[in-house]
Amino acid sequence: MNYLKLGLLAFIFSIPFTSFAQFVQKPLPYAFNALEPYIDATTMEIHYTKHHAGYVKNLNAALANIPNDGRDQKITDILKNIAKYDGAVRNNAGGHYNHEFFWSILSPKSNKPSDYLMSAINKQFGSLDSLKGLLNKAALGRFGSGWAWVIVNPQLKLEVISTPLQDNPLMGDAPKKGTPILGIDVWEHAYYLKYQNKRGDYLAAIWNVFNWDEISRLYEANVPKLTLDQKWSSLANYSASLDKIKELSAKDPKQMIFHTSKLTDAAKELTKSPIPADYASNAMTKNIGDLGNLSTNLDQLIRKKAKSKLINNAIAQINDLVKNILSTVNN
Ligand SMILES: [Fe+2]
Repeated sequence: MNYLKLGLLAFIFSIPFTSFAQFVQKPLPYAFNALEPYIDATTMEIHYTKHHAGYVKNLNAALANIPNDGRDQKITDILKNIAKYDGAVRNNAGGHYNHEFFWSILSPKSNKPSDYLMSAINKQFGSLDSLKGLLNKAALGRFGSGWAWVIVNPQLKLEVISTPLQDNPLMGDAPKKGTPILGIDVWEHAYYLKYQNKRGDYLAAIWNVFNWDEISRLYEANVPKLTLDQKWSSLANYSASLDKIKELSAKDPKQMIFHTSKLTDAAKELTKSPIPADYASNAMTKNIGDLGNLSTNLDQLIRKKAKSKLINNAIAQINDLVKNILSTVNN
């Protein structure tokens, strides 16, 4: 009898844990008026407490019809497998994800893209202003309601796209797939109270409240920084050899011959191997050639037992040139 009671109790208490998991809105990370004057407090309040909250409520209602083991639990998995769901799940899962994302990439604190992100923007678009022009054009060109995005595409390049309604580039059937790092809501509910039909004015203003720390973090999470060895192994090898010489030159000059000949070998390998396409230029060809000559010169100074002042000057010259080369490679 006791076992029967225990079994019944276990069944009753297990119900909440096996029933469908509800999605909930994260708290807005700033006050409704925090993005004033660019986005007004009333718009933010209605946008968060009515529109976004509505997507969450309707998503939970749409998913309640599906058995728990017949649906994905994570919002990103729902988006990935969106083709197997109906229109209500599509619109509201997209609506929930897009708004949660949108709040996270806005901030009242004005900042700027990280050097790493800025370097990718400059390489791909020429400047941040060019990217702004492209994104605003995509946002203005989106007929009716939708979103404009900067994504990291499957080739790990930045790309500007737009999607209709609450679609997004994480959806499995999206024509352009990728991971968003920046998105602009161009539904009228995002701007109409302050800007009425002037979507262009809203788009100009929103650039004052982008959370570049978060956007930069998302970029780096999706496009991890390469090590020097991964970018240019013969330069990494040379640089390590040079570090050893810098360390020894002050402490144990007798060891220098062994290491300067190693440096000369590293320089030969560096000058023989092709410069990676990302850093190839006439200036780089000249710098690498100079590095080869300076390394040979240092080796000769050591063998001739030249004065330490001459040797240290030669090392300093090499060091300056390597720093110069690395600043290009690391940007
Ligand atoms: Fe919205």
